[in-house]
Amino acid sequence: MFQFPDLTDAIRDFLHFGLAISPWLVSPDTTERFDAELFHLIDYTAKDFVRLYWSTDSAQLIFTNLPVPERIPQTAIYETIASTAVQYSLLQRGEFFVDEDLLSQAIHQVEAFIATRGLGTLVGIYAIVTSYENHEALAYYGQIPERIFISGKWHRPWIDYSLGDELMLGAVTGSLRLVIKERQRMVEQTENGRRFLSVNKYTLQKSGYLDYRKNMLQIAHLHHMQDFDDLEALLIPQSAPVRREFLHWLGITRGMQVLEAGCGSGTFLFSTGLAEQVGRSGHVVGIDPAAGMLAHAELTRRLYGIDWVSFKRAEVENIPFADQSFDAVVGVAFLQFSDLHRAVNEMARITKNGGFVASLHPLEPDDLPDFYQQWFQPILDLEAKFAPFGIKAFPKGEEVANAFSKANLSSIETKNIPIHLDFHDPDKATEFFIYGLGIFQELLAQVPWQARLDLIHELKKRGEAIKARYHSNELIFPITVQMVKGFRKE
Ligand SMILES: C[S@@+](CC[C@H](N)C(=O)[O-])C[C@H]1O[C@@H](n2cnc3c(N)ncnc32)[C@H](O)[C@@H]1O
Repeated sequence: MFQFPDLTDAIRDFLHFGLAISPWLVSPDTTERFDAELFHLIDYTAKDFVRLYWSTDSAQLIFTNLPVPERIPQTAIYETIASTAVQYSLLQRGEFFVDEDLLSQAIHQVEAFIATRGLGTLVGIYAIVTSYENHEALAYYGQIPERIFISGKWHRPWIDYSLGDELMLGAVTGSLRLVIKERQRMVEQTENGRRFLSVNKYTLQKSGYLDYRKNMLQIAHLHHMQDFDDLEALLIPQSAPVRREFLHWLGITRGMQVLEAGCGSGTFLFSTGLAEQVGRSGHVVGIDPAAGMLAHAELTRRLYGIDWVSFKRAEVENIPFADQSFDAVVGVAFLQFSDLHRAVNEMARITKNGGFVASLHPLEPDDLPDFYQQWFQPILDLEAKFAPFGIKAFPKGEEVANAFSKANLSSIETKNIPIHLDFHDPDKATEFFIYGLGIFQELLAQVPWQARLDLIHELKKRGEAIKARYHSNELIFPITVQMVKGFRKE
């Protein structure tokens, strides 16, 4: 059976260079984001790079003696440049639109990667990533009509080229085959294909690519949710009082240097009052990986005329500040998106001796109410199907406090508060729970594009049916939110 060489390190490099393949995947819609002229520029550049950098040697390195269709290297460069530019737009500006400046940054980075690692490696990564997308879709659907497979409509609708070459390569390597079903030509995975998928998936997981892909999905979804705060107030009516209680409990005093992790659109800073509590003699830095959220927060900051708050785009697992920079490092409802231990270690690292780290987060519920189980059954089914790949969820009982003590924090205090989620508006509840809270992101990231849209549509429909069956005061989901605080030892 054909296998790619181990490209784990190369994929890590690819991510370090800030490159991407198919970030359209992460956007809920696929409207055009390039001027036609820019498409031509990508096209010419891809052709130039093939002329400059493609050789039989670099092909053999990855594909051994397979007949690589001529267009594949060019498509790989085209797709990587276009995707990287869209990713820059999303991360730097919180939007999807690409201008010449972003495009030239992307071209520069792609060329720098090729100069370091070789075009063969880039094409290899492209082949692994795209065959992962193809095979995941086939594993999900069982069979896909050839016509639809080639158009990418169900699983890669952002492409503007045919997947005929990839189908041919799949057939040559014995991982895909065509079968006739009810007079229709269908594409399906072979046994070899299943093994091929699991090897590729392992590589993508080990190199951090799958985590990156899931995070981008979440960030793009949040970007599309302008009204996060309003939805939250409707669905979690106690969210505002609980945030206020947390702020009070923290004991933040004037003049402190504070970092807020996962600050989002700035609710805790401005509506709850963290910025006001710290006052102009102090400083707060808000970090969040979602540029769209930060742009919103920055607008609010200007509106309030507060000049002692600043923002930086960063993940909590990798905070761009020196050791012991802050008196307090806090955050609300962001831990479920992060790697708990890395997050807490980073938060502790940048806290001064005697300072504290604190989090307010929902806990994983013990039981699921009946109405919820009926409504979200399709998601629960998926959970059962994908469970072996490890689903990240909300922290459980003592998990966060234990992570705090492992990170060498002491005098750890915990406070649990019962609240409830209100599900009486099916459309809004589905949007909020899927896009806003990110509860199901790990699962949805594994579902092909079209199936994901279908699933969200189905959840909304099921919600309507549930609403007709239950009294509105039964559509309540009790949960516990938890505050945890720990001090960095002197
Ligand atoms: C549910 S929102 C909460 C926002 C805000 N803290 C609040 O209380 O409204 C979760 C936030 O976590 C951010 N986030 C996602 N992954 C993250 C990570 N790895 N590190 C820090 N924040 C992250 C999201 O971009 C989003 O803004």
